[in-house]
Amino acid sequence: MEYLTIRQAMGQGSGRVSVRGWVWRERGSKKVKFIVLRDGTGIIQCVIEKQTAGDERFAVADALQVETAMTISGTIRKDERAPSGYEIAVDSFRMVGASDTYPITKDQSPEFLMDKRHLWLRSRKMQAILKIRATVFAAFREYFDTRGFIEFHSPIFQATQCEGGSSLFKVKYFEGETFLAQTWQLYAEAGIFSYEKLYTIAPSFRAEKSKTSRHLTEYWHAEMEMAWAEFKDIMDHGEGVVKHMVAKVLEKHREELAVLGRDPKRLEPTVRKPFVRMTYDEALKVLSERCRLKVTWGKDLRTVEEDRLSSLYDVPVIVSEYPAEVKAFYMKGVEGRPEVVQGCDFIAPEGYGEIIGGSSRETDLAVLERRLKAAGEDLSGYEYYFDTRRYGSVPHGGFGLGMERIVSWICGLDTIKDAIPFPRTPLRWTP
Ligand code: 4AD
Ligand code: MG
Repeated sequence: MEYLTIRQAMGQGSGRVSVRGWVWRERGSKKVKFIVLRDGTGIIQCVIEKQTAGDERFAVADALQVETAMTISGTIRKDERAPSGYEIAVDSFRMVGASDTYPITKDQSPEFLMDKRHLWLRSRKMQAILKIRATVFAAFREYFDTRGFIEFHSPIFQATQCEGGSSLFKVKYFEGETFLAQTWQLYAEAGIFSYEKLYTIAPSFRAEKSKTSRHLTEYWHAEMEMAWAEFKDIMDHGEGVVKHMVAKVLEKHREELAVLGRDPKRLEPTVRKPFVRMTYDEALKVLSERCRLKVTWGKDLRTVEEDRLSSLYDVPVIVSEYPAEVKAFYMKGVEGRPEVVQGCDFIAPEGYGEIIGGSSRETDLAVLERRLKAAGEDLSGYEYYFDTRRYGSVPHGGFGLGMERIVSWICGLDTIKDAIPFPRTPLRWTP
């Protein structure tokens, strides 16, 4: 028996087809049973009539529960009334895996759905998000693959911090201890001296206690690092890859966006228009003049400020040249203004927060040592990193993009937890 996917069967549109999947909805009367079957590609209504099936088979069909796995053969035809516009008049079916009474019914709490996450993945909503997520990952790779970058991997067990000691996960490592990666960056900075243009997509870990709609303790981090880069190159690639990711989703996932109730018009400006670029100083001015929010120079932008700023534009905003004191130790100072660094944050539209953080990297070893010492770091763990500045150092830089952050924004999600199959937060590490 050759099975078509539901999408293929609807593409065929008429004649005999065999499909397989899971019962998504079922209802019936004494004479006819309606099953909406779901597979990885879509849904289709299937009708089993008592008259054609006979009493015995009809009784079996009538008892089918939601999430039963089954195969169905019959004649497909257009039907405006059916949920996906097509219907199969069933002439035979087979139960492959029976289903107990499915625990997920309408109107359940978000916490219950998290407990049953392994089942909730089967929902139309999660299926749409996961398809979009896969396209977002592929688009990131495609953008850099076609521009001469290669994929490079850092260890996940790492010797030191990079983004601040307070969000490090410590791991017992035999007799000693190590940390889970916060970023691939320091190892990529070693790697660029071999191949120059690198990217990765890998899990990063942050022990941030914050319970927000934007933070996970384990997230997928897409990063790039390149030798000979100027600060502008970093921002240009950030803008280029975000445009490419959004364009790919718009091209391939109109249907999924519709399932999510996400208006594609909200995303189109990002592909079409240049991103808004402003310095930190300019951002403070805009916040004060247009949003009546006063930020003292030297303070980081908080969620409220980022949200207000993003609400002024329909494309991401790139804020650059932050005060050195609010940014990481490795960021390079601005020429003639050492209190400001060549670092940038990309703030997504609609209050989805920071999607990219990037910078030019400090090449002066003495400056790096001084900053790390000031942060109370034991320099011995950084010897390998210092070597990158001792042997043929060059201007370089890169950025990191939070995949769940961008998926959240693209899909218009209420929480970042829905942007990943099995979310990890301070309060949730099962299933
Ligand atoms: O701004 P961050 O901390 O920058 C770095 O890690 C650099 N080393 C990247 C680089 O230059 N290679 O993190 C980068 C991005 C953020 O902009 C955000 O999108 C995401 O990672 N991110 C998180 N996403 C989900 N949950 C969290 N707890 C996140 N923390 C950061
Ligand atoms: Mg950041």
